[in-house]
Amino acid sequence: MRKPRWLSATTLAFLVPGLLVGLASVALAADASPSPSASTSASPGGGGGNLPGDPNKGQTLYQSSGCTTCHGATLGGGVGPPLHPIKNLGDTKDPLDPQYLISTITDGKSGVGGYGQMPVKGGASLSDQDIKDLAAFIIQQNRLKGPVPLAPGALAQSTIEWVTIGVLAMLALTFLLSRYNMRWIARKSGGH
Ligand code: HEC
Repeated sequence: MRKPRWLSATTLAFLVPGLLVGLASVALAADASPSPSASTSASPGGGGGNLPGDPNKGQTLYQSSGCTTCHGATLGGGVGPPLHPIKNLGDTKDPLDPQYLISTITDGKSGVGGYGQMPVKGGASLSDQDIKDLAAFIIQQNRLKGPVPLAPGALAQSTIEWVTIGVLAMLALTFLLSRYNMRWIARKSGGH
């Protein structure tokens, strides 16, 4: 007679954490979208190296040539895709390849990443050197980000692993508690 009660308590002990797992993964899935986290310290390799131009001039040009209108004052994107962290729009192996950046800025781009249209030279009048400086600025900004961040998939996976561990611990705890509780109830009702 006591056995079914016991069973239902056990079921509950697994059901509740199970629901929590479900909720947690839903929340995670929503949370896994790339969010530029606080920037880490500058990577040692980013000290100028093989930049195609002058990143400081590039920064000035970026602000003065209207790039901010579409890509945001802090390169976070808007009408256009974010340039830091830069996205792979799908038409290149490496969006930080200087040649790719230079030709994209020079020729503009349309309909590749589902963002709409970037006019030739962003609609500004830029010299070849200006474009190299802009490319250098974009590369430098992305390098300052430090170690390559985990890909969204890998990040979500590692988070899910930790959440799973936490939830399993909770599940064990709930189970133990419910056992204790049942024993307590049994003892109490047994007293009468
Ligand atoms: C009118 C809006 C607009 C302006 C102004 C603009 N862009 Fe863009 N840019 C875009 C859009 C839209 C795309 C994506 C095009 C596509 O997906 O085909 C893009 C793409 C790019 C890319 C490729 C990004 C990647 O992830 O591969 C770079 C680099 C870039 N723009 C740099 C610049 C620079 C530098 C300027 C300033 C000189 C500038 N853009 C001005 C709209 C703009």
